[in-house]
Amino acid sequence: MDYGTIPGIALAPSVICLGTGGFGSSIPRETAFAILDAYAGQGGNFLDTAHVYAAWEPGGAGASERTLGAWLKRSGLRRRFVVGTKGGHPHLQSMQVSRLSPVEITQDLGESLERLDTNTIDLYWLHRDDPAVPIGEILGVLNEHLAAGRVRALGASNWSMTRLVEAAAYAGAHGMQTFCASQIGYSLAQSQLPNPSADGTRYMDGQAWEGHCQRGMPLMAFSSQAQGFFSGKYVGDGRNLKTGKDQTVKKIYFSARNFERQKRAVALAEKYGRTANQIALAYLLSQPFPVFPIVGSQTVEQVLDSCAAAALTLRPGEIAWLEG
Ligand SMILES: NC(=O)c1ccc[n+]([C@@H]2O[C@H](COP(=O)([O-])OP(=O)(O)OC[C@H]3O[C@@H](n4cnc5c(N)ncnc54)[C@H](OP(=O)(O)O)[C@@H]3O)[C@@H](O)[C@H]2O)c1
Repeated sequence: MDYGTIPGIALAPSVICLGTGGFGSSIPRETAFAILDAYAGQGGNFLDTAHVYAAWEPGGAGASERTLGAWLKRSGLRRRFVVGTKGGHPHLQSMQVSRLSPVEITQDLGESLERLDTNTIDLYWLHRDDPAVPIGEILGVLNEHLAAGRVRALGASNWSMTRLVEAAAYAGAHGMQTFCASQIGYSLAQSQLPNPSADGTRYMDGQAWEGHCQRGMPLMAFSSQAQGFFSGKYVGDGRNLKTGKDQTVKKIYFSARNFERQKRAVALAEKYGRTANQIALAYLLSQPFPVFPIVGSQTVEQVLDSCAAAALTLRPGEIAWLEG
């Protein structure tokens, strides 16, 4: 495993971060524990969860955070792990109504601390933005939680680069801390959704890429494996695909350009004796700014495969060739 740095976080987080959206719901607790054990065994120490995971599953609300809390307690590894969770997500039944008031942020954070069975969150993310909410109000309450030790560093997920720059300027002028990292969707396969998408998620675009290059700001990439687009399962016109998740992959990633990138990832994987999925992760790890891919491992085999990409870097010429 390789490790990086994120300003404000004392521990060096592993470059491969483990996403845990389905832990304790679509992924039963025993399987989740086995994935976590395997990830820790590979030197992984960076977890990504959220207050809203997995409220969309019957009985799933809070399951991911509770599963992580139980595993961290059982393993005794809390102090060796960088735990990130997110709050301020809209209620699922009213996605257009933001929840970024001081009361809502504080309520979500309190529940996350309880579920994770910890007294501090290493990296606390806001899950969404609402440009109508003044930046000073948002940073004010987050800085109170920093001062109280309830969180150690701040991150912004699905925020535009314009708002991140605004937040940094406000914090600088008012002696506050701002967001030390951004979390958006980013993979070798490019998203075809509008930015932001209907559910408020954001994917890499030119403005974000330039901003990260200029500022050197760490990026946590969700859907870093394009939801399995490089696994070998997604070929051709997708007419044989049946599950809801398959249809999502088709909608977001099926394009002539992405199939060409997939073909090239397979070719490079054959050259290096790797998997195409590992090449896709290496593409992110070889960017000119720090990228921590979040991997959505469903099995022990998948987490082992993804962790093995950590030490793999690609040359600029290979990056350009993959991009076509
Ligand atoms: N901040 C946000 O708004 C946001 C949004 C989305 C996700 N996230 C975070 O990111 C995490 C991961 O998201 P994601 O599920 O979209 O990520 P992903 O890693 O791109 O996709 C996961 C899928 O990729 C396939 N896969 C996993 N490991 C593989 C491997 N080694 N080789 C080949 N295929 C592999 C699996 O597909 P099969 O099931 O078909 O095997 C799996 O379901 C979430 O758990 C969450 O923590 C954050």
